[in-house]
Amino acid sequence: MKTQFETTTDLQSLPLPPGIPILGNLLQLEATRLHLILEDWSRRYGDFYRLKVAARTALVVSDWRAVSEILRARPETFRRFSSIETVFGDMGISGVLSAEGEQWYRQRKLTMRAFDPGHLRNYFPSLVKITERLRQRWLRAAEQGESIDILADLMCYSLDVTAGLAFGSEINTIDGKDAALQKSLDMIFPAINRRLNTPFPYWRYFKLPSDHALDNNLRTLRDKVDTFIVQTRVRMNADSSLFDQPRNLIEAFVAVRDQPDSEFTDEDVYGNVFTTLLVGADSTANVFAWISYFLCEDYDVQAAVQAEAAAVLEDQTVLQDFGRISSLRYIEAVAQEAMRLKPSGPVVFLEAKCDTMVGHVSVAQGTPILALMRLGGLDSQNFPDPQRFDPKRWDGTSNHAEMGASAKRIVMPFGAGPRLCPGRYLALLQIKMLASMLGRNFIMERVDQVSIEERFKFTMEPVNLKVKLTKR
Ligand code: HEM
Repeated sequence: MKTQFETTTDLQSLPLPPGIPILGNLLQLEATRLHLILEDWSRRYGDFYRLKVAARTALVVSDWRAVSEILRARPETFRRFSSIETVFGDMGISGVLSAEGEQWYRQRKLTMRAFDPGHLRNYFPSLVKITERLRQRWLRAAEQGESIDILADLMCYSLDVTAGLAFGSEINTIDGKDAALQKSLDMIFPAINRRLNTPFPYWRYFKLPSDHALDNNLRTLRDKVDTFIVQTRVRMNADSSLFDQPRNLIEAFVAVRDQPDSEFTDEDVYGNVFTTLLVGADSTANVFAWISYFLCEDYDVQAAVQAEAAAVLEDQTVLQDFGRISSLRYIEAVAQEAMRLKPSGPVVFLEAKCDTMVGHVSVAQGTPILALMRLGGLDSQNFPDPQRFDPKRWDGTSNHAEMGASAKRIVMPFGAGPRLCPGRYLALLQIKMLASMLGRNFIMERVDQVSIEERFKFTMEPVNLKVKLTKR
């Protein structure tokens, strides 16, 4: 692979954090703090260092140029960790997130058709309804002076939005009506993270109680998704115009799947509906929870969000007009800044598919590579006073405006290259709906001032963030 680094070195010459014989660094890699440990070592050992995990040596890279290069050199030169394909495959999920090579091209084509921005516009009325449902829930909490576990509420909101879009059917976890679906999904990411951190796929040979619980949850979800696929097909066969103008993801998937000589199967539809549900809800909820955290830390920023919401929504309590979403520019800047400091995916797990270079480091085929996504955005050479939360960096009005374009190349909250997140428009749409609803109707404050920890579970979330809302 062509790179912009001049000198070259090999993996074995890189610094290695001290570990223990045989297991190397394995026992130091605490699963829920993985990103913090790797970032800390990066500050100590540099932008390129290695890790030993039992017999394997991995490269850890935090230099944003090298990270960007490897993300863009997929799927030919790099892939996701092969264990991701194994773990998802063993769970019976073959969707775009875990697929590789030719399979990935097929799945990505299917996904991109389904994620056509036109479907988002068609789906907007449902998004308005779900946002109004959350406003009602928050109104009740505000009137009763209740504190809110904001991440839990946002998971419900985001799940209702994503499931509504994925299934084409109303799901209501905000009011607790589809709690079983939420409970089943809740345990999937921690289970994936646990399995990815297990050096050997023991579950193929024997199962622990947690593996049986996972199997049960996967069966529940499979039944649910299969039922939706059957119902969708019945609906589409009764109204063939839906094949040309699908209204949601599942109809779009089925429309492509059911074309004559289609290269897709029902398994592909299942895998991608499931994947959407899994990754879509979690990341968006985490990002908005971190936005809430920053709004509580800085009342000037919260006031600016309220002012923008009032100007754009006028007398509406929830934005009703899809065309006005793009006017919420300050809120978009708040989201970008929150994702710079608190990326939902702080580590991307990759692997070299051939002998190649990562920056100036030569790596052999099969070398695991952990790409750290946050440190470029925390470097004072790229962002003055980098720990400060300052949305003006992104809104084109401050002295940092000249950074604009390059800032977006350094901070990659949605990844980069051919595997860039296909859900990013939906994610930003939800964030704008939520932030404008919050700003128009409520003042948010923290219930306590305990420091908020970051927890890694494949995505990264705030722990125990409790807030109180007051009606404006
Ligand atoms: C703020 C919210 C979100 C963030 C921060 C986020 C971030 C990411 C990141 C970092 C990746 C990996 C990209 C790469 O490997 O280069 C990714 C992939 C993906 N995301 Fe998102 N995402 C968000 C919301 C969503 C939503 C709402 C959906 C769907 C409804 C979604 C669906 C996917 C899928 C299917 C992939 C895999 C793409 C592939 O491998 O080709 N994401 N996302």
